Amino acid sequence: MIQRILCIGAGYVGGPTMAVIAKHCPDVQVVVADVNAERVAAWQSGEPPIFEPGLRDVVRASLGRNLRFSGDVEPEIAQAEMIFVSVNTPTKTFGQGAGRAADLQHWEKTARAIRQHARRPVIVVEKSTLPVRTAEAMERIFRTRRPEQRFEVLSNPEFLAEGTAMADLERPDRVLIGGAETPAGQAAMRELVDVYARWVPRERILTANVWSAELSKLAANAFLAQRVSSINAISAICEQTGADILSVARAIGTDRRIGPEFLRAGVGFGGSCFQKDILNLAYLCEQHGLPEVARYWESVVTLNQYQKERFVQRMVRVMFNTLAGKRIAVFGFAFKSNTGDTRDSPAIRICQELLAEQALICITDPQALDGARQLLGASERVTFEPDPYEAADGAHAIALLTDWAEYRKLDYRRIHAAMERPAFLFDGRNLLDPEDLHQIGFNVYAIGRPDRTNL
Ligand code: NAD
Ligand code: UGA
Repeated sequence: MIQRILCIGAGYVGGPTMAVIAKHCPDVQVVVADVNAERVAAWQSGEPPIFEPGLRDVVRASLGRNLRFSGDVEPEIAQAEMIFVSVNTPTKTFGQGAGRAADLQHWEKTARAIRQHARRPVIVVEKSTLPVRTAEAMERIFRTRRPEQRFEVLSNPEFLAEGTAMADLERPDRVLIGGAETPAGQAAMRELVDVYARWVPRERILTANVWSAELSKLAANAFLAQRVSSINAISAICEQTGADILSVARAIGTDRRIGPEFLRAGVGFGGSCFQKDILNLAYLCEQHGLPEVARYWESVVTLNQYQKERFVQRMVRVMFNTLAGKRIAVFGFAFKSNTGDTRDSPAIRICQELLAEQALICITDPQALDGARQLLGASERVTFEPDPYEAADGAHAIALLTDWAEYRKLDYRRIHAAMERPAFLFDGRNLLDPEDLHQIGFNVYAIGRPDRTNL
């Protein structure tokens, strides 16, 4: 049984994943190393640098026992028997494949550091989401220069979603482990299976070859994002025809073959992964001579951009074709509820479009105000306000962009009383009851639902 685990990358995946491994394997020493000293210090102090419900308690329970965070990656590599690589793999912004391919520079630096500093046979586990056949490239890096050193590369993609990461890690639908079909590859896979088997039922631990595991991760995200774009496409037809997207989603979601999950129409998917992974998949398809397949997946992203633009177009249209000088309260900036993460949040594009219309925006969010401030910068036209009542005070309209449960509990009568007339409410998440709001006096426009207006 493995005694020393290292994870390189203390982000949204590395931190929570290792905290759960440390919890269930108290006899295993787990170290999470990162080049970002500030992040490391936050984790090590027991105040995680990311907001994730339930995370802090799990980290604190193992800190000082068998969980440690370190800013010194190299000596940790020398000690480790199993190394998870959980560094960021964002979309490349330069050179070949810019805007589509994955930027593998952090991953490659990590591979080279492992090659240089490993001092014992080591199992390297790809946790980051990577293009298919990256494990092969990693093996090549390892084999050059240190042929005597034994490295075995596994793929173990992570399927957790932010906001529910702890439950996803505790009770995963499945754990996927890909390895080489050689005796050494199979032995390495057994070691990793043994780690997860401490708390995950065996039948939920799936094994595959490395390429299948790598591709399954991209495919899973592509399928999930495709469902969101599909329901959003239907929401556009609903708005034109008077059909209601909630009724349509219920009607199709009760078909067992379709299922009810991921059928919530909204302002489009955000987050650091859906768009990046689909674009990466499309890029791979092109590299492998499959342009039709690439176009198919790209259309999921195109529809997602359209959904954000459509939301603002509707706002401009119903607010008498001008937003110039009008105050808009933006309820929610995180890409989904229960996270402070603003990476690729639909709110970014929507706020930019509102500013292009010369609106004055006041953003409120329970967790993501710092992220919003960093992305948009404060100015005369953009303000940030923790209290939603203050944000809506004197506003012409509310644009609800994140599905925070607390927005359901607000006193909309009070909010309405403090707003300009006519007061508009654009529910970009179908979070609120449009009929109630209409009775209060709002002109309500919800995604894929009939307008409720007094105008
Ligand atoms: P993140 O940016 O939050 O964390 C990555 C960390 O890696 C950063 O703290 C960074 O400082 C560190 N790092 C980068 N280069 C390093 C190096 N050379 N040495 C040491 N540390 C280094 O990213 P994340 O959201 O945790 O995602 C990590 C990977 O997991 C990505 O490939 C992503 O696609 C995948 N993933 C993310 C999620 C999610 O919900 N965020 C879910 C599943 C999979
Ligand atoms: C997603 C996947 O769900 C995870 O399995 C995966 O591990 C992760 O990406 C990753 O690879 O990073 P995440 O992005 O954290 O997780 O959150 P989701 O719950 O999938 O939501 C993504 C976006 O889609 C959010 O903006 C959300 O609001 C939106 N969404 C989701 C909808 O608009 N409608 C839905 O019905 C579901």
